[in-house]
Amino acid sequence: MKIVETVEKVREQVRSWHREGLSVGLVPTMGYLHEGHKSLIDRAVAENDRVVVSVFVNPMQFGPSEDLESYPRDMERDAALCEEARASLIFHPQPEEMYPEGFSSYVDMNTLTEGLCGKSRPIHFRGVCTVVAKLFHIAEPDRAYFGQKDAQQLAVIRHMVNDLSFGIEIVGCPIVREEDGLAKSSRNTYLNQDERNAALVLSRSLKKGRESVEGGEKSAAALAGRIRKEIQAEPLAKIDYVEVVDWNTLEPVEEIHKPVLVAIAVYIGKTRLIDNFIYE
Ligand code: PAF
Repeated sequence: MKIVETVEKVREQVRSWHREGLSVGLVPTMGYLHEGHKSLIDRAVAENDRVVVSVFVNPMQFGPSEDLESYPRDMERDAALCEEARASLIFHPQPEEMYPEGFSSYVDMNTLTEGLCGKSRPIHFRGVCTVVAKLFHIAEPDRAYFGQKDAQQLAVIRHMVNDLSFGIEIVGCPIVREEDGLAKSSRNTYLNQDERNAALVLSRSLKKGRESVEGGEKSAAALAGRIRKEIQAEPLAKIDYVEVVDWNTLEPVEEIHKPVLVAIAVYIGKTRLIDNFIYE
């Protein structure tokens, strides 16, 4: 497995694979890889001849008061995980490689990005769309892999790929959880022991929510209320949002009778965590 830092070196390698008729999968990440990322790499390895993993903490998707500086990083560990998962190449650029001096072009979207995480993170999706569009141009993959934990991101990327005719298949992969239900996230490392226990309220409240839909609940407001009540019972938790939206448009729904995304964002102490389920 190679680790390269420049756009030119990725291009050179990927184009030679394409010339040999090999398919290429891309797994975009911000590093500090965990089992969730590994599941994306495993799927990419199973479905493609070669797999590129990008490891880049993208400054453009962090707001001014967010955790860019403290975001966990461990390239050595990431490289070992990628090697073991049989990725072929890691692209690990410095910010100047992705955003050279004078950089001033962006990819933005005026649907899908305003609600949910977009409300409290107004510049986030412009940063995500811009960096992912760049990664797609650099790695020229046949398929790219994203986790369903960032469900809005998955919907936004699918929409961008369709709008801008990227010709790349976007593969959404299921949420990977700890044994006790907490969705895997690099940000879980911010939690102290009390917060780690309190964080279980996310998966627990969604489980209650799922049970009530499966039990026949049709009102989105009642479902959201059920989930909110569970979260509010946890003293260390503060709700950012609890939303029930159409899974294709991300517009809020009143009644549950098409595929809906039930998504939550909750602060546990200072750490903002997200989780969701899709009810088909
Ligand atoms: O999901 C992430 O880790 C990031 O948002 C992504 C897709 C790698 C873009 O920086």
